[in-house]
Amino acid sequence: MESYYVTTPIYYVNDEPHLGHMYTTIAADVLARHQRLSGRDVFFLTGVDEHGQKVQQAAEARGIQPIELADQVVERYQSLWPELEISNDDFIRTSSERHKAGVQAMWRRLENAGSIYKDFYEDWYCVPCEAYWTETQLKDAGCLESGDSDSMHCPDCKRAVEKIQEESYFFRLSAFQDRLVEHIKANPDFIAPASRRNEVLSFVESGLRDLSISRTTFSWGVPVPGDEKHVIYVWIDALTNYLSALGFPEQEEPKYWPADVHLIGKDILRFHAVYWPAMLMAADLPLPKRIYAHGWWTVEGEKMSKSKGNALRPAELLEQYDADILRYFLLREVPFGQDGDFSFTALKQRYNSELANDVGNLLNRSLSMLKKYRGGVLGTVAEEQECDRALIADVEAMQREVADCMDRQAFHLALDRINAMVRHGNRYVEDNAPWALAKQGNDARLDTVLYHLVEILRLVALQLIPFMPGKMTEMLSQILDRPVQADEFSFSADGGWGLLEAGHQCRKPEPLFPRMD
Ligand code: MSP
Repeated sequence: MESYYVTTPIYYVNDEPHLGHMYTTIAADVLARHQRLSGRDVFFLTGVDEHGQKVQQAAEARGIQPIELADQVVERYQSLWPELEISNDDFIRTSSERHKAGVQAMWRRLENAGSIYKDFYEDWYCVPCEAYWTETQLKDAGCLESGDSDSMHCPDCKRAVEKIQEESYFFRLSAFQDRLVEHIKANPDFIAPASRRNEVLSFVESGLRDLSISRTTFSWGVPVPGDEKHVIYVWIDALTNYLSALGFPEQEEPKYWPADVHLIGKDILRFHAVYWPAMLMAADLPLPKRIYAHGWWTVEGEKMSKSKGNALRPAELLEQYDADILRYFLLREVPFGQDGDFSFTALKQRYNSELANDVGNLLNRSLSMLKKYRGGVLGTVAEEQECDRALIADVEAMQREVADCMDRQAFHLALDRINAMVRHGNRYVEDNAPWALAKQGNDARLDTVLYHLVEILRLVALQLIPFMPGKMTEMLSQILDRPVQADEFSFSADGGWGLLEAGHQCRKPEPLFPRMD
């Protein structure tokens, strides 16, 4: 069986989960579920990033040990994911022994390859981003607060950076510049979307400097093997999670590696698309097939921030909205890769027009008519007309096009395509007017039309399972008249046209997406 490995970033434990974390994890879940339905052996990984100066400082501010803070926040993530129907296969913590072993083995591999040397680091550091900056980079980016170089800020997060001066190990990143450029050019799908690929390419082409990869002025991290006063740079530590979770180093060539796709936010592109591939090249390990950087959400037009107190918390959203509705909205509203705005008005509009009026209505009217005119029982299909054949052709085209969209992580287009199918179904109802057929006593045509409607609904629900696993199992239980599980289906066994048999009984419909006022 072909394997498929999808990852989310591992989330820092200095803060509670918010909309941004929920977004990437839902996107990864939708891919994982779609690939399982496609018959692939999927490994879906998420987890938490517990080490580093930022987490240590957050713990100090609360007067607790970093591991205590980590334990508290991990609990939040682990209870949230099932509520959002996240079907991850593993959850990696960077404080775990299995992960530390992976990080130290990665260090040794880089060292043995001659890619690490000791020197002295004297430049700037952004704790919130856990990123190094040179004075020149900061000045070039206009990041001087008062014209005085003691008050620099980070070009990415705009917060104050600090000057560090300490002994440090370095990774020979500069040695990989040419190979990285070559790899990115030879593999057009390696970094997506295309705008991000160009961004990385020009960053790499403008010249790479060696990277400081250890710190000595705090202790919360994985010690450098053989030189324990150094702690391994948190990004080297964190990136290695994608391998340590698979059993590296015990598994030299872990099953599932290389990853099919690392989903990340645009702010952490450089770490994933430059440092990580260079590390893997140095360690002589295969590179991930694809890195997809999505955009950022604002909330009601404003940047989310702790100080503004407007960070959307998944737990609070779930008190108001079903997980499926949130999943649908997040992936439908904004093309993956672009920035977007979360607004409650937009959520309600999309819900009412696409879920209540389109899918919900098609399900409800079709099963109601089947109940009313046929006691809920499907009849046999008489001779098919042009409009019936067009409907079937459209379903088959939808299945192919959705698969293609999902291979490109074009979630909004996949949903758009499914919605077009649903609208076709609703037009088919209008055009064939089953109520008129019933009145005329045209039973043969009535049975044919109702059969086509129920088959469409079944095949639409199958495509929507990854996006709305809860609602779609309800929808399929109404159609199949039995309790179902989201993971019992597959596209190959269940995706064909005409699998429902004459005589099959459907349930009386229950509103799946009641209108929101
Ligand atoms: N720990 C690192 C990742 C290490 S991966 C080897 C990290 N963690 S984080 O918790 O700060 O952020 C995790 C993800 O949340 C990032 O991909 C980031 O882009 C995403 N988001 C944070 N705020 C966001 C929005 N407002 N909107 C969308 N995603 C956002 O970075």
